[in-house]
Amino acid sequence: MKALLAALLSATAFNAIANDLPEVEVYKSPYCGCCTEWSTHMADNGFRVKPINVDDVPAVRARLGMPERYGSCHTAKIGNYVIEGHVPAADIKRLLREKPTALGLAAPGMPGGSPGMENAKREPYEVLLVGNDRKAKVFARH
Ligand code: CU
Ligand code: CU
Repeated sequence: MKALLAALLSATAFNAIANDLPEVEVYKSPYCGCCTEWSTHMADNGFRVKPINVDDVPAVRARLGMPERYGSCHTAKIGNYVIEGHVPAADIKRLLREKPTALGLAAPGMPGGSPGMENAKREPYEVLLVGNDRKAKVFARH
């Protein structure tokens, strides 16, 4: 059991290095629990997470160019992409693989059942690919 756990842990560490995933800067309110839960989800999926507590998340969102209408509780920066809200790590990995010309991804609102929102009632939600023209199209449905 111990050996298995050690093997799993080293596999996770290895994946993090092998994937060479960029660092995630998470701009969040210090009082928001689900932002921390999402950060944990990202770390569990091999990302290096740098939490940055800010008083005014909407101001950061505006500075990074993510429209308010796609807003959620936290805004993240990964490489040149902006990630808004509770976007699953798998979608972000796909974004980094496909490298579309875009501002980034957004999961508007706080969809129940999304990563970091597991305690809320599950609801269907869409992850949007937000273009540099700020128009959105559906990237993934969950
Ligand atoms: Cu949230
Ligand atoms: Cu949050």
